[in-house]
Amino acid sequence: MYRFLRPVFFLFHPEFIHQAIMLMLGALRFVPWGRRVVRKCCTYRAPSLGVSVLGIDFPNPVGLAAGFDKNAQHVNELACLGFGYVEVGSVTPLAQGGNPKPRCFRLPKDRAIINRMGFNNKGVAAVVKNLRRRNPTLVVGANIGKNTLTPNSHAPDDYAACFAALYPHADYFVVNVSCPNVTCLRDLQSREQLTAIVRRLTAFRAGQPQRKPILLKLSPDLTPAQIDDALEVVAREGLDGVVAANTTTRRDGLQTSPASVDHMGAGGLSGAPLTQRALEMVRYISRKTQGKLPIIGVGGIMTPQDALSMLRAGASLVQVYTGFIYQGPKFAKQLCRAIAAS
Ligand SMILES: Cc1cc2nc3c(=O)[nH]c(=O)nc-3n(C[C@H](O)[C@H](O)[C@H](O)COP(=O)(O)O)c2cc1C
Repeated sequence: MYRFLRPVFFLFHPEFIHQAIMLMLGALRFVPWGRRVVRKCCTYRAPSLGVSVLGIDFPNPVGLAAGFDKNAQHVNELACLGFGYVEVGSVTPLAQGGNPKPRCFRLPKDRAIINRMGFNNKGVAAVVKNLRRRNPTLVVGANIGKNTLTPNSHAPDDYAACFAALYPHADYFVVNVSCPNVTCLRDLQSREQLTAIVRRLTAFRAGQPQRKPILLKLSPDLTPAQIDDALEVVAREGLDGVVAANTTTRRDGLQTSPASVDHMGAGGLSGAPLTQRALEMVRYISRKTQGKLPIIGVGGIMTPQDALSMLRAGASLVQVYTGFIYQGPKFAKQLCRAIAAS
């Protein structure tokens, strides 16, 4: 079915289609049996798919990556599409509009997307309000960031504010210091700046009755030495895992003409061109940490084989975004079926 719908969807601008899909997901709530029917069509269940990692029981290891449901508007409906968990955000303390449009582009020849959304979201208070409606049996991660206008010197305040507000409402947290679309955000991956942010979060967590996992989301553009630095902070500060990886600013090896790519402009590239890089990064981190650090593998998972490779490289869980756009609503089901059969 999606094979026929996709060419129609792809006639429209990506952000327009995204909004239309979000509206449809919202409408599902009011259709009798709507969610149940979608769940039946799009979910693959098998006891062998269950994973216990980060102290959380996931019904399956396939999650929806951050950026799709930035405001946690449709977590319950997205879970009906077969995802074992949904990561919402990136969330910032205050609402912000993000970068000027157009800011999201498809590269069908490369099965890829370039985006420079720039943390458009409704702010942490709105996200908390939405998460109060979530089905408590679902696993939800919250990906946190800083407002664009907040200087890096005050970034710890922004991360701490989001973390504290969301703490009762999410099962795990991801510190996003790797988005290429917010000026200088990736500088926060340096040892000193990262430590300052993370210490605020762990100090808050120490005072809470329940210890919730904190993960660090890394850029695929880091050098091995920079990855090592980040892993050292993770180990030293008692973080629980990493998400590898975010989008890349690289543009090499694309089939789309250089003129079209130039015309799209700056932004993070995701999808098939990222498959190898994300896989290598997960393999590297897994080896470095002797397979002991939980890793969420994300980046260029476009086929069931890609998901299997990611798990074999050392990821405990996987996430998809661009693959979901290209393969459609049954993508999580396809991945789960392959994982259960492996
Ligand atoms: C349109 C778009 C928006 C995104 N927004 C976010 C975001 O807000 N926070 C974040 O951590 N990652 C964001 N991402 C990155 C994804 O979560 C994921 O790390 C990346 O796209 C690689 O996975 P993929 O190849 O499966 O898309 C976004 C990706 C896309 C395509």
